[in-house]
Amino acid sequence: MDIEAFKVALGRFGTGVAVITTRDGEGAPAGFTASSFTSLSLSPPMVLFCLDKAAVSFEVFRAASGFVVNILNHQQQDISNRFASHGEDKFNGVKVRDGAEGLPLIEGCLANLECRTTDKVAGGDHLIFIGEVRQVHLGEGTPLLYYMGKYHGI
Ligand SMILES: Cc1cc2nc3c(=O)[nH]c(=O)nc-3n(C[C@H](O)[C@H](O)[C@H](O)COP(=O)(O)O)c2cc1C
Repeated sequence: MDIEAFKVALGRFGTGVAVITTRDGEGAPAGFTASSFTSLSLSPPMVLFCLDKAAVSFEVFRAASGFVVNILNHQQQDISNRFASHGEDKFNGVKVRDGAEGLPLIEGCLANLECRTTDKVAGGDHLIFIGEVRQVHLGEGTPLLYYMGKYHGI
């Protein structure tokens, strides 16, 4: 298996971009940028994402009872970059509000999905988080897309 070819092949699969958010036991917000968000089931409504076990926020997500999928619009590239870093102050200056489950929803997104974590499945160096969608919020705009390591808009 040629690992470099594997990476190139993965880059050829264009995706949207989401920021997955939650809170730790003390209520502090945590979040990271994800392209691994996928719809899983319609009935019941379920989604999943995959998080690197080496991520700074990994233990927070593993311990949390839920998460929010914030689907970014094409004007939110700065938010994507911010949440793709390891910075302490990722939420500084980012407009958020609490959802019904008390988890942070990023304002101005194409959609926010509030989820309860139902399963965590081993997946190599990542963990697959599966959640049932409890609330959906819809915004306006066109998507931020990611392809071959670069952002694109429509
Ligand atoms: C467009 C894009 C998509 C990404 N998708 C994922 C992903 O699905 N899973 C993941 O673990 N990291 C993903 N990353 C990398 C994380 O966002 C990055 O490692 C981040 O620093 C993790 O934050 P943390 O270390 O503070 O938890 C992606 C980065 C970018 C720019």
